Amino acid sequence: MAAERTSLFIFFGGTGDLAYRKLYPSMYNLYKKGTLREHFGVLGTSREKLTDEQFRDQVRKSLGTTKTDKDAEKFISHFVYEAHDVTDKAHYQVLKTRAEELDKKYELNGNRIFYLSLAPSFFGTVAGFLKTEGLTDTKGFDRVVIEKPFGRDFDSAQQLNDALSKSFDEEQIFRIDHYLGKEMIQNIEAVRFGNTLVESLWNNRYIDNIQVTLSEKLGVEERASYYDNSGALRDMVQNHIMQIVSLLAMEQPVSFTDVDIRAEKVKALRSLRVYNVAEASTNFVRGQYGAGDSQRAYRDEDNVPHDSNNDTFVAGKLLFDNYRWSGTPFYIRTGKMLADKFTRVDVVFKKPLIDIFSFPQNHNAPLEANVLTMYIEPHAGFSLRLNAKTNGQGFQTEPINLDYFVDAKDSKATPEPYERLIHDVMKGDGTNFSSWQEVSYAWRFVDQIRKVWDLQQPQFPNYTPGSMGPASADELIQRDHRQWVYRLNK
Ligand code: BG6
Repeated sequence: MAAERTSLFIFFGGTGDLAYRKLYPSMYNLYKKGTLREHFGVLGTSREKLTDEQFRDQVRKSLGTTKTDKDAEKFISHFVYEAHDVTDKAHYQVLKTRAEELDKKYELNGNRIFYLSLAPSFFGTVAGFLKTEGLTDTKGFDRVVIEKPFGRDFDSAQQLNDALSKSFDEEQIFRIDHYLGKEMIQNIEAVRFGNTLVESLWNNRYIDNIQVTLSEKLGVEERASYYDNSGALRDMVQNHIMQIVSLLAMEQPVSFTDVDIRAEKVKALRSLRVYNVAEASTNFVRGQYGAGDSQRAYRDEDNVPHDSNNDTFVAGKLLFDNYRWSGTPFYIRTGKMLADKFTRVDVVFKKPLIDIFSFPQNHNAPLEANVLTMYIEPHAGFSLRLNAKTNGQGFQTEPINLDYFVDAKDSKATPEPYERLIHDVMKGDGTNFSSWQEVSYAWRFVDQIRKVWDLQQPQFPNYTPGSMGPASADELIQRDHRQWVYRLNK
């Protein structure tokens, strides 16, 4: 059984979609595993008027359990609810009283986790009142969990951070990036730093380029009002992709702790070249999906303006100006309404300098580059493409794959990202959260691209649903005499 963790959770936005879909079910998993047992309490808040019983009914629904399930009922009995307007200073006293009751009842030692699943414009207000109204005034730990988006550019992110910093220190702030809770993203470090074979080749001498693809099959769905103000660059690149890239690019941390890992990620991001106008317009391309067979164009989706120039796709080339990576580009791409839903990293090694097998009378196909593919989702695993001799007479070579996939039984047991991340917050381990410095360097990079895009009129729509984005994404990499490892119809 896992070690028990003790804390009170106060959820702001406690009746939101995220809470019901992800947070409460993840907590229930932690309960079933014993991380949560007797000593935890949950105070849900939002504007909605609900009694404790009505709130528990909703929580029960979100867990998919019934009142006859004794274990689930015990878990749900730790949940209480208080309707709350986050701007109403006086009402924080009511939350404080309820928090104290729960603290006493479940012996929580004053440990508190404030989970802000709210519009970011309220982060500062809530954090400020938590402090001034004494909710953080306990003998235990106080931690605040923040959902994305963390700003929409560097300036707004900094304002947000300044507001939060008035009440919480950096090590008390847990900025969620749910990609960091994914099993295979965490495996990047294991594969790199656990294998001489990999890490000794992990540099510009042996790696030709690295490709990161986060492909989504669905469109904007019912999130248009958020997404149309964000776009793929802010929604996926600034956070998830920059985090993945920094794990791929960083140096080996001194130890496997949050402080050391973050220090290396920050160092990597600091050496990422921030583009000037000309570089930004050649090294990044954007796209927006048009109509497909049975699919509306993005501009015809509900709540999207008909003249929207929002990006639903982005591809780009990232360059690190450091000794390890100089000359080895990282290509990234992500988009909605693409051919399939998957996330993968392809590490393309340099070809052997001399191909001794391809003498003319042999009719041998030239050697292919070795590729290490990390399959993040939906199937988790690795594949290493090597060249080997074909079986039989003569001497021909062919690429073969060494594959490893997590089997279905194990992948069922893989914790959901939110389960892992909530557990980490209880432990006080910030490894899988974005630090302010990481966020700020990522924004500085992304802002330059955005600035250029804001000045140019895109030719949208420019890709069809079910494709892998606009032709310009292929041109971007072909210009460098390379190709995407994952491409359709190859
Ligand atoms: C979120 C984005 O952060 O990540 C969404 O806001 C996107 O637009 C989602 O769909 C993708 O996450 P996952 O885990 O399904 O790959």
